[in-house]
Amino acid sequence: MMMMMMKSLICISLILLPLVSVVEGGRLGGGYGSQKPIKNLSDPNVVAIAKYAIGEHNKQSKENLVFVKVVEGTTQVVSGTKYNLKIAGKSGGGGKIQNYEAVVVEKLWLHSKSLESFKAV
Ligand SMILES: *[C@@H]1O[C@H](CO)[C@@H](O)[C@H](O)[C@H]1NC(C)=O
Repeated sequence: MMMMMMKSLICISLILLPLVSVVEGGRLGGGYGSQKPIKNLSDPNVVAIAKYAIGEHNKQSKENLVFVKVVEGTTQVVSGTKYNLKIAGKSGGGGKIQNYEAVVVEKLWLHSKSLESFKAV
């Protein structure tokens, strides 16, 4: 009797487990809240976000950084898409190239972007 129950329990979990992991995988891998590395750093959209971050930083700080390239980055779907980018920038007047970490949240349906943080690293 006990064995029977054990067996059917194992059977049920064998059926359910893949289902659960598919659902979990859909939610976590690529889904809400998970951080994904940006594979193509020259993606025009990623570059646009980086340039926006630098432009916004320049406006706020009256600095004159010039975009060089995106060094690395992740995206995270929260309410909108959160971009965590490491950007190489050059301060105006032939300054040296330095890396900056920028966080930008883009809400496509509101056509809005906001710079959450920007700092030299
Ligand atoms: C990355 O994106 C750029 C611009 O869309 C494209 O030209 C390039 O081929 C892409 N590179 C890879 C490795 O997908």
